[in-house]
Amino acid sequence: MLNIENVTIKVDNKEILKDFSLKIADGETHVLMGQNGIGKSTICRSLLKDPNYNIVSGQISYNNHDLLSLTTTEISRLGIMMVSQNPIAIEGVSNAEMLRLALSERTNEHIDIFKFSKKAKEICQKLGIPESFLHRDINSGMSGGERKKNELLHIWMLEPSFLILDEIDSGLDVDALKTVANSLKEYQEKTNCSILLVTHNPRIIEILNPDYIHIIKDKKIIKTGDASLAKEIELNGFKSLFSENAQESND
Ligand SMILES: Nc1ncnc2c1ncn2[C@@H]1O[C@H](COP(=O)(O)OP(=O)(O)OP(=O)(O)O)[C@@H](O)[C@H]1O
Ligand SMILES: [Mg+2]
Repeated sequence: MLNIENVTIKVDNKEILKDFSLKIADGETHVLMGQNGIGKSTICRSLLKDPNYNIVSGQISYNNHDLLSLTTTEISRLGIMMVSQNPIAIEGVSNAEMLRLALSERTNEHIDIFKFSKKAKEICQKLGIPESFLHRDINSGMSGGERKKNELLHIWMLEPSFLILDEIDSGLDVDALKTVANSLKEYQEKTNCSILLVTHNPRIIEILNPDYIHIIKDKKIIKTGDASLAKEIELNGFKSLFSENAQESND
């Protein structure tokens, strides 16, 4: 269970989120929506302790571990993994090298090269990415869509128990989006992982069938609903929701 309680986060000394709270139980899928620049990536990156984001108050725990007292490495060892909105390229380190090292770090075991290689190749095939990607530097020279698929390869290899997906759909064509969303669904069914998904895309929401949709406004979650809330936003935009909210608070 991830428990975010009344966190206030500043970036560059500007308050982005205030008294923000969210609980995600094992195996649940939660979607965060909201207008551009509202703080969705801010909460995602803060969960992994990105040093650009200053958590000035509140508490964050994951399975009774206090995340605020842990480093990014320690948090990832707990099984929390993020696919960022714009995955960066890392020159000089190949996908395979990174994955083998990360796996042996996490499991404290020697990684059998043949088993590793067999699994990695099977995943590449399933995701429709060339096996040569395994030996390329991480995300290097890859298109936006290829990077997202490459990150999905990392998910299948590293088997996180909590996934933070910040607009994993952006940059994917229609077919790639289906492949990625179905693969995520399959991964969740296999592992019962929790997912925090940031997206503006109704199709990925339809495929992943989330338990809750949350809308951020005014530095916190102002509305929570089921998948029908995403449909409402797609039809009428965020503004309709906010005016309805304004009316509610006037009543
Ligand atoms: N590293 C940073 N330095 C300065 N300002 C930042 C930084 N990161 C985020 N911000 C600011 O914080 C605010 C929230 O940004 P954030 O990236 O969380 O928005 P978002 O909801 O993810 O938007 P989008 O839908 O466009 O991805 C924005 O005003 C942004 O400019
Ligand atoms: Mg963002």
